[in-house]
Amino acid sequence: EKKPIRIAVTGAAGQIGYALLFRIAKGDITGTNQPIILQLLEIPSSQQALKGVVMELEDCAFPLLSDIIVTDDPSVAFQDANMVIMVGARPRSKGMERKDLLLANAEIFKIQGSALNQCVARDAKILVVGNPANTNALIAMTSAPDLDRNNFSAMIRLDHNRALSILAKKIGSPISQISQLIVWGNHSPTMYADYRFALNSDQPLAYNLQDENWNTEVFIPTVAQRGTAIIEARGVSSAASAANAIIDHMRDWVMGSNGRWVSMALPSDGSYGVPEGIFFGVPAICENGVIKRVANLEINEFSKRKLQSSVDELMGERKLILSML
Ligand code: NAI
Repeated sequence: EKKPIRIAVTGAAGQIGYALLFRIAKGDITGTNQPIILQLLEIPSSQQALKGVVMELEDCAFPLLSDIIVTDDPSVAFQDANMVIMVGARPRSKGMERKDLLLANAEIFKIQGSALNQCVARDAKILVVGNPANTNALIAMTSAPDLDRNNFSAMIRLDHNRALSILAKKIGSPISQISQLIVWGNHSPTMYADYRFALNSDQPLAYNLQDENWNTEVFIPTVAQRGTAIIEARGVSSAASAANAIIDHMRDWVMGSNGRWVSMALPSDGSYGVPEGIFFGVPAICENGVIKRVANLEINEFSKRKLQSSVDELMGERKLILSML
């Protein structure tokens, strides 16, 4: 009997949680041979709703799900966790300024980061999803100085998947044929979807797509505005596709990306002109549980400007929460 792996999820009673937990329990991250203990964190006012979710998890009779821990205490939720998926965050309420939102979340991720520092398995893989994800990840990482920085990431995979799907449709090629796509930067409208290096069945894709206008007027803004388009259509923000992206991000990290490039927001190592420390979407390859950035890609003038606008935004966010670090 294999030892269960502990997967902590925060904000577990929210809409992403509802689309995520069942897939985790099914084995979509860790495979069909790995028992799982779910460690679910919610605030007191959402405990009732979480009870219902737990009942439904039980009612699925998932063979891999060996236990479910439910708590409103981060240090219980994170105890010995091997993976931590931080979805819970303070949403923007009416009349709330961007700065207030940043600070409210900084508070949450500071507390939870300290709990991570004390409680998680020393090699735990941590993904921040709750927005503003990149800056929340910076706070969590900074509040957990005993953990390896390389165990922290923020999510830009949903944007990567959106870009992939739009590109496949445009050139009329199956998604599985397209590789080496990148989404750089902040998970915000400044993100930069970049197909300059993309391949379509191992042929440079940009050759079939010389339409600069489509790139700048359609592709880049459509990827960047997709989240807003979904809110407009559904009345609530993307949840199932966000949960799917979480699964993709964590599965590739744990099981390997098989040589494929995936976009992950990682603490910058200073490459590509991105100041060290801030979380920035970059292309990466995962192997044996280790994330390796794809290095030394050429950055032309246009790309440089695009990257810079995410850098400026993230440095601005960092400045606002700096006093809390
Ligand atoms: P939701 O509002 O349905 O659920 C959030 C849950 O977090 C709620 O149940 C709430 O009680 C809980 N929560 C709030 N503060 C908490 C705390 N301190 N500790 C633990 N739990 C807490 O929101 P939804 O749709 O599930 O989205 C969650 C977050 O993910 C949002 O911040 C959203 O903006 C973000 N998001 C990020 C994406 C990305 O690509 N990085 C994509 C989609 C959403």
